[in-house]
Amino acid sequence: MTRYPVIDFHSHILPKMDDGSKSTDMSLEMLQRMKNYGCDLVVSTSHYYRKDEDIPDFLSRRAASYKRLCQRIREEPEWNVPSIALGAEVAFFFGIEEEENLGRLCIGDTNILLLEMPFAPWSTYEINAVSALCYDRRFRVILAHYERFAEFQKGNETYERILELPVIVQINAESLQSKFGWNSKRWIRMFEEGRAELLGTDAHNLTSRAPNLDLARETLRTKVSEDVLRRIDAFGFHLLADGAQRK
Ligand SMILES: [Fe+2]
Repeated sequence: MTRYPVIDFHSHILPKMDDGSKSTDMSLEMLQRMKNYGCDLVVSTSHYYRKDEDIPDFLSRRAASYKRLCQRIREEPEWNVPSIALGAEVAFFFGIEEEENLGRLCIGDTNILLLEMPFAPWSTYEINAVSALCYDRRFRVILAHYERFAEFQKGNETYERILELPVIVQINAESLQSKFGWNSKRWIRMFEEGRAELLGTDAHNLTSRAPNLDLARETLRTKVSEDVLRRIDAFGFHLLADGAQRK
């Protein structure tokens, strides 16, 4: 049986890029932890906020941060780390569907965009913009931590309606833990029913938001099945492979 790589689709592991890793040492420690629990590839998705900087400025900061990290990995081969793909967690902004440089924020050499929706009730405006990203711009849109928006969309039908678009749902690993109460069952069920496709750690540091993909995978293994993990891994692998052809 084919073994698909274990991929973390959401992380803040690049040093000093955002509110994630504060140093190259912290990045290396985070990456080592990921590798220890069997992560093969981590997608680095530093925050991109349109109000703070233009895309070319973000990309040059990201390149410098990544270069520093790679240099340390080369100099200190005792660090055992997963492969890294560069992307961004793009916060929704007015006019996003018309931003011509948006493709440069996709993961690696693909057309896959990790989109962070507003932490406020969504309206038809947001739905139409995401629709344009999918159908007009031909992006594969991953909705970052879909579950984190539930509290802002109570009674708002757009929270379900957005799933009628060809979007991909990413859930954070920590949200599957029972300390988050009954809601964890809701997100586990989304994986069970095939309505959520991808897991990400959204790891920011080594303490409060540490790499924890292993816990989420164990939860899915015991509460759902090994098959659901295989489906997640296969989906992620094929998504990246197809996305590279469609850029
Ligand atoms: Fe994030």
